This record gives sequence, structure tokens and C-alpha cells, in this order.
Amino acid sequence: MRNIAVFGAGYIGLVTGACLAELGHTVTVRDIQPHRVESLRRGEVPIYEPGLSELLANNEDRLRFTLDAQEALQHAEIAYVCVDTPPTPSGDADLSRVWSVIDDLRNAPHLAAVVMKSTVPVGTGEQVQNAMTAAGLGHVGYASNPEFTAEGKAVHDFLHPDRIVIGTADPVAAELVASLHKGVDGPVQTMSIASAEMVKLASNALLATKITFTNEIAAVCEATGADVEEVAAAVGMDHRLGPHFLKAGLGYGGSCFPKDSRALRAMASNSGYPFQLLSAVIEVNDLQPRRAIARLKEQIGGLRGRRIALLGLTFKPGTDDMREAPSAIIAARLLSEGAQVTGWDPMAHPGAEAPWDQVERKSDVIDAVTDCDAAMVVTEWPELVDVDWAKAAQAMKNPLLFDGRNLLNRQDLVRYGFTCMGVGRITALPK
Ligand code: UGA
Repeated sequence: MRNIAVFGAGYIGLVTGACLAELGHTVTVRDIQPHRVESLRRGEVPIYEPGLSELLANNEDRLRFTLDAQEALQHAEIAYVCVDTPPTPSGDADLSRVWSVIDDLRNAPHLAAVVMKSTVPVGTGEQVQNAMTAAGLGHVGYASNPEFTAEGKAVHDFLHPDRIVIGTADPVAAELVASLHKGVDGPVQTMSIASAEMVKLASNALLATKITFTNEIAAVCEATGADVEEVAAAVGMDHRLGPHFLKAGLGYGGSCFPKDSRALRAMASNSGYPFQLLSAVIEVNDLQPRRAIARLKEQIGGLRGRRIALLGLTFKPGTDDMREAPSAIIAARLLSEGAQVTGWDPMAHPGAEAPWDQVERKSDVIDAVTDCDAAMVVTEWPELVDVDWAKAAQAMKNPLLFDGRNLLNRQDLVRYGFTCMGVGRITALPK
């Protein structure tokens, strides 16, 4: 069992640290935010991720949290870099946090390898290795080990991955990083650093492309009378295509797909290659929530003075993450059209900034839809399936439901008096 320092106590760092401790390693997680470290020391987990608090509690003997890089590195044999790489105005990834971790590595007497989990442009690993050599750390191995876990099931994904990608030029580092995963149920793929860096970007871009392709098919379904749910179910039965990420909706959001698709496009552009397919994906995804609002506006004959409920605000269910959530664009669009907006979400804590300062938050779905001219399912929280929709229809001024995730049973809804709009399907009228 090894002694590991994890830099960054965000989603990736905490899940990585907790899972490595679960596998038996001794882990010190270092973050630069004092309140984050203090709350973790008190046993409070600053983010919502199913199973994470339990894992941190069960392994508290093997886990420590610190603000001090030297303390984290005092006994560390391996340093994991799990800091965020947010987009800059040019769409490139901002690597300043990565570089500051690399600067911190100078006083690490036992360090044998640095493992990059942060998503970085192809070529970063080579630059980091050069910087490490210049800093007298030429003897320390380097591996790119991109993370493929999805929020909401990150702990499961870490322990049961489809693959563990290890990119390194150093067979000793490859062996060391692979050995840390003993007990993890997934095949190891070893490759060059550049290829490993590209696997991460290509995987997210292809997943974003699959979603966007389905959203475009949905638009054509709306225009022609086909139903995207029926179409996607049968398309996904082709084993060459697979059933995953074929769900039409209001566009992908979150901290990864929007950022990584822009980063890959910027990286391609910087090297002189125009990644046109990815540009189209990004543009179509930006349009997706706006198209939904335009359809709603047409259906109810204008939005000024209308009261609209947004059901679900997080970028997907099972998380409290609001980053790049389509709900923000939808709320802002509705407000700018002069509508009043209410919002329900079981987990989200949107900040006090626009548009959330003007959205009336309700803790109950019926309260949120009361006196509304329309309600829109923005995030497919399972709780929405169990709502008393007959009661909701009674409470609304106009029982119109725009199911932006095609979540609810339309046959029931039309029986309760709802007009049902969806993505990629014709509008169903009340029976
Ligand atoms: C995504 C990838 O799935 C992970 O493999 C990757 O490790 C992670 O990014 C990352 O780079 O860190 P995540 O952003 O947590 O994970 O969420 P997903 O479950 O992939 O969903 C992303 C977005 O796509 C959500 O807004 C979701 O609503 C949307 N989506 C997903 C669809 O609209 N349709 C689908 O069929 C699937």
C-alpha cells in the first residue's frame, strides 16, 4: 500500500482520494480553500456525490486533509493532480492551477510519480515533464491517467471503470500507477502521454456529439411527426451504435462536456485544424434551450406577464452541480421575455446572482406550478415522476407541461387535462 498526495478537493480529487483510501492507500488531500479543508476535517463533505460521504467516513483513518502542500508531500510516493482547468476567454484550458501544483512538488523527498487526472490539452504532459526535469525532478515518473467518472455515479465509476488509461513513457511509472488500482474492476490500457490526453478529450467530444446528433434528429422529428423516443430506442438496439447518450433533451451541460468540447476545438484551431463537426455540436447545443423557449412562446402566444415553473435546475439529476446548467439559459431567456419564473429543485443551491435573484424558489412542485401558465421539466429528477399531476393540473392557471427531458407519462398527463409538449415529439392535447 502506498502513501499518496491528492492535489484538489473538488469532485475528482475527493472521489479519487476516497477511492484510493478505500483500496487501502494512505491519502492526504490538499486544497487551497481553507473553508473546504476545515469542513472536510469536521467530516462534512462540501459537495453532493452519492456514496462519497460514506466512503470518506469509512476510510477516515487513512485520509487526511490539509492546506499545506509540504505536509501532503512529506511522505508521498505518488502525487495526483486533480485541480480544475477552467476555460479562458479563448476557449483554451487555464492550466495555472496545474502549474502551481507542479511548483509545489520541489520538496517531496519520497516522490516516485506524478499522476495527471486534470483534463489538459494534448502536449501538457510533455511540458510538465520538461518543467519537472528543470526543477531537479527528472527522476520522478509522470503519467496521464484521465478520469472518466460521471457525476452522480463517480464512486461506482471509479471502482468499476470501462478502462483505466495510463499514458506514460516510463514503464516503472506505468507499473506503479497500475498497481495503485489493485482491487479496481477494469482493464488497464497503457499508451503514450499524448494519446492518453487525447482519449479524454475525444471521449467527451464523441459523447457530446451523440447527444447533439439525437437533439438534431429530435428537431427533425418535431417537424415531421416522428417520435425521437421511439426512434432512439430502436437506433440504440444496433450493437454498432449502442443505447447510451441517445437521450434528447435541452442540451448537455455540466463542468465537462461544454468545457472539454471547447478546449478540444481551441486546441485543434491553435494547431491550424478547423474541427468543423465539433463547432457544429457546440453551436447546436447552445441553441437547444433557446429552441425550447421559442416553441413554448409560440404555443402560449407570448411570454410577457406569463408565469412559468422550471422543474429541476441542476445540469442533471443526482447532483447539486449547477455549472453550465441549461436551466440558467432558460430562466434568463424567460425573464428577458418578461415572464415571471418559479423554480423547484431538490438539491440545487443556485447563487444570488442573475438570473437566480429573480427566480422564486419553491420547495414543493405543486407550489412551484400553482397559478402558472406553463411548467417545464428541465432536469429529469425521479421525484418528478411521483408528483400528483392531477393535482398539479388543477393548481395551474393553464395546464401546459413542456417536458424538456421526455420524462413523464404523457398518456396520464393528457388524461389529467395537460397539453404536453416534449423534445422531438408532437404536442399531445388533453383528452
Ligand atoms: C461527463 C462524462 O460522462 C464522464 O465520462 C467524464 O468523466 C466527465 O464528463 C468529465 O469529463 O469529468 P458528467 O458531466 O458528470 O460526465 O455528466 P453526464 O452524465 O455525462 O451528462 C452530461 C450532460 O449530458 C448532462 O447535461 C446530461 O443531461 C446530458 N445528456 C447525457 C443528455 O442530454 N443526453 C444523454 O443521452 C446523456
